[in-house]
Amino acid sequence: MKITIFGTGYVGLVTGACLAEMGNHVVCVDIDAAKVARLRGGDIPIYEPGLESIVRRNHASGRLDFTVDAAPAVAHGEVIFIAVGTPPDEDGSADLKYVLAVAATIGRHLDRYAVVVNKSTVPVGTADRVRAVVATELAARHAAVEFDVVSNPEFLKEGAAVDDCLRPDRIIVGASSARAVAVLHKLYAPFNRNHDRMVVMDERSAELTKYAANAMLATKISFMNEIANIAERVGADVELVRQGIGSDPRIGYHFIYPGAGYGGSCFPKDVQALERTAHSYGYEARLLGAVEAVNRQQKTKLFELISHHFNGALAGKTIALWGLAFKPNTDDMREAPSRQLMEALWDAGAKVRAFDPEAREETHRLYGDRDDLVLCEHAYDVLQGADVLAVVTEWKAFRSPDLAGIRAALAEPAIFDGRNLYDPATVEEAGLAYYGIGRGRSL
Ligand code: UGA
Repeated sequence: MKITIFGTGYVGLVTGACLAEMGNHVVCVDIDAAKVARLRGGDIPIYEPGLESIVRRNHASGRLDFTVDAAPAVAHGEVIFIAVGTPPDEDGSADLKYVLAVAATIGRHLDRYAVVVNKSTVPVGTADRVRAVVATELAARHAAVEFDVVSNPEFLKEGAAVDDCLRPDRIIVGASSARAVAVLHKLYAPFNRNHDRMVVMDERSAELTKYAANAMLATKISFMNEIANIAERVGADVELVRQGIGSDPRIGYHFIYPGAGYGGSCFPKDVQALERTAHSYGYEARLLGAVEAVNRQQKTKLFELISHHFNGALAGKTIALWGLAFKPNTDDMREAPSRQLMEALWDAGAKVRAFDPEAREETHRLYGDRDDLVLCEHAYDVLQGADVLAVVTEWKAFRSPDLAGIRAALAEPAIFDGRNLYDPATVEEAGLAYYGIGRGRSL
């Protein structure tokens, strides 16, 4: 099929590459000419496992192309995806200006039936707004062209995006037109392993499904962080509690890892946006507010532990950090707990020596050159001249640490394990103080 995708960010690029991989002819449009040139040269602006090879392969075969030129791109697509950003407004609502600008562009150029698909995470009611904008533009040029608007939210995870896209758990399609549903059935047929993954519903339910999924996942994390904070005070180990509750299939083992707080471009933004939506309909979503509040507090946790260890006297100390990205297998630093930690340490007069397998360049882009930040090339380089070590992101490379080496290198041997990666007893036997999240050691 012929597909057009507006936006070459995470969602647009991964969707485009995966649809091309399934044999479709995909044109990706972006207003950023430099980015389009990079992509045509096979240079992928983000780190995402497997993405580079799939983009290059499909670009070379002619099934995937990139352009800044919207008119021929709109003419190309039987299905036209909108996958542009929806950054938070000042009040936390999702800003739809990019989505609606693309809708207007589509309306200005559409000359035969197409299905317009919203893939961006958008507030309930956006499909109706997109439909109205396309219709207004068509009417302005007296074009009697039929089209449908469908909500088809994306559920991919950074770091596993290609796999999630090629092997989706479910394909949510919010549509009120049988014609559009038939087109999407055809498009997604190759993604149906074993059974039909498509769940068809109305647009508003599809839009809310996306927010509900992320809010539910964020709730699980904040819940576990709250239990961790209780465990710490009552002298229990949240890791044992986690295993104890996860064995109940109604709870499950997934997504109940306590830690340094959730980050990324989705959970913080989407929980807030859903809260705003509820508020604008006259409903106070108290649980969502609490999920966010717990997370905000959790992001200060590592700093509090470190500060407590030094009795608040952090000036002149050097803190070694393992992990900067908001989670492993990405270079994404958006809302990363490491940022809050570093900024608090700097404010307190401490220096940071940090290592991350992928996010060093992005960290440098964010903070530039500064005396109190050294970005190291190798994991163990962070220890040189450092007082203590804090683990912020659970990259696999940090899972089997050389404890004797760490102990020998640190001035005040202590590990602050922001992801509960290590066994406290093993760390302590190696001669280091151990601090985890919710592991029976009270502040
Ligand atoms: C999230 C969702 O998982 C995807 O399903 C969704 O499609 C995506 O948002 C989106 O809306 O686009 P992502 O932000 O890539 O994906 O990252 P997650 O793997 O969900 O992790 C989010 C944060 O939660 C990370 O900071 C992670 O460290 C934290 N987390 C996760 C925990 O603290 N504990 C856990 O048990 C799991």
